[in-house]
Amino acid sequence: MIDIPESSIMKDGINYKYYINGKWEESNSGKLISVHNPYNNELVGNVQPCTKEEVDNIIKIARENIDCWRETPLNERAEVLNKAADLIVEWSKPLGYLLMKEIGKPINSAISEITRTAEIFKATADSSLQLSGETILGDAFEGFSKEKVSMTYRVPLGVILCIGPFNYPFNLTGSKIAPALLAGNTVVMKPPTQGPLTALHFGIILEKVGVPPGVFNIITGRGSEIGDYLTNHPGIDMIAFTGSSKIGKHLAKVAGMKPLLLELGGKDAAIILDDADLDNTVKAIVSGAFSYSGQRCTAVKRVLPMPGIVDKLLRKVTEETLKLSIGDPSENKNIGPLISSEQCEYVQGLIDDALKKGATLICGNKREGNIFWPTILDNVTTDMRIAWEEPFGPVLPFIRINSAEKAIEISNKSEYGLQGMIFTDNIDLAFNIAQELEVGTVQINGKSARGPDHFPFLGTKSSGLGTQGIKYSIEAMSRPKVVVMNLSERGKLVKQCFVLDK
Ligand code: NAP
Ligand code: G3H
Repeated sequence: MIDIPESSIMKDGINYKYYINGKWEESNSGKLISVHNPYNNELVGNVQPCTKEEVDNIIKIARENIDCWRETPLNERAEVLNKAADLIVEWSKPLGYLLMKEIGKPINSAISEITRTAEIFKATADSSLQLSGETILGDAFEGFSKEKVSMTYRVPLGVILCIGPFNYPFNLTGSKIAPALLAGNTVVMKPPTQGPLTALHFGIILEKVGVPPGVFNIITGRGSEIGDYLTNHPGIDMIAFTGSSKIGKHLAKVAGMKPLLLELGGKDAAIILDDADLDNTVKAIVSGAFSYSGQRCTAVKRVLPMPGIVDKLLRKVTEETLKLSIGDPSENKNIGPLISSEQCEYVQGLIDDALKKGATLICGNKREGNIFWPTILDNVTTDMRIAWEEPFGPVLPFIRINSAEKAIEISNKSEYGLQGMIFTDNIDLAFNIAQELEVGTVQINGKSARGPDHFPFLGTKSSGLGTQGIKYSIEAMSRPKVVVMNLSERGKLVKQCFVLDK
């Protein structure tokens, strides 16, 4: 295993600092926030709750460096991202191990989260070759001539605030940092309080590959304490946020007129028609519902099966679910801890409500520590909370339907609109249903998922605002700059020359 040079990033081997202007600093708050392993409660590290004054300073530094970074040639900004990608891959095992400890993600998935981030950095660097503007001649409108020419190119927005969630704390901050830097912005990153440690390493990584001091900065602290101050701050020019719909909506109120990229919660429904390929469907549902114990925005959160397939589907999904291994993330068990005991209690509340209202328990509904056994509920009805709320835990409700129309109605009644799924051999029908679903993406014969990361990724309704994905994120983090040339005499002169030459 390669050693990451961590001496600068923390004090006493456990207390992590924050990162401003290329230096690791201790906060004047004099306080610490502990980060515990959700599996065994072991202390993994402490971060500092930064003060409002420190927020002011970090934003001031990021602003002072806007010009320097914007003027750095695009090919040099891309090169930095390429080098960062290489370093992330080199350090993927120790970073993955730390990530596994702080958020309880199975070790292989934790390492994949790190290497996936490197791929995003590389692909973002590559997309610099495709960045282009456009030229428009004015004569499409009556009264204007070809001599009025608009030239458009893209310029950075300034300082981008990147806020990530606990479930992908490295990847979903990295997927914001890379496009922000490529587009020429400076960055203030705020990692989640449950899972900040791995993401803090972006400070070392970016410094090592040559990002100048002050271009990339990290502030730590609880969203409930510094979040509003940060998002409302006049020194922030744009906010890229991934997290819950509750906080996302709140942020939209606090942020004023700042451009926002919000990737929020979901309640993705899988519509299963009678002619679906059973094996493929079962595989997609089990992995979609229970990977990382259901703590994914794109998890399969509702199954809507037709009568001809429901019994065999339920039987096979249950069989496969019972095969999932449960326990220690370091042993790569399929099901590990939920992020906190509060989250376990929330999940339990949803199950209790469903059972009280008549749902049938097929398996699960058992808890040890923060581990919740994968739970399947049948005969779920629309008066139950689990039909609508996002558990962010391993609970899969089956809501039986008897028509595609009913499936569309239940899917669309959700406050969320992240993704939807249709499993069928009838591609024409699937396409027609897809047209009706009020979601960002519809997957046909596959589980809902964000990647590959150059695909557009977005949610409607409470699931988000704006579009993520490599070229879309770069676009969101830059704006068009238009220069209009008024060449009124030039065209006539050319025509005259042409006549004279003849
Ligand atoms: P969360 O509680 O909303 O927190 C997300 C981030 O927001 C954290 O960094 C948090 O900081 C910060 N925050 C909290 N209050 C804030 C405020 N007032 N102003 C600014 N920032 C604030 O979400 P989570 O529990 O970490 O993540 C789970 C949720 O994220 C789920 O709903 C999931 O569906 C959603 N998610 C969506 C996507 C997507 O792409 N659509 C991807 C991943 C997750 P603290 O940690 O310090 O509170
Ligand atoms: O948790 C939300 C993530 O954006 C989901 O990403 O579909 O690759 O797991 P994923």
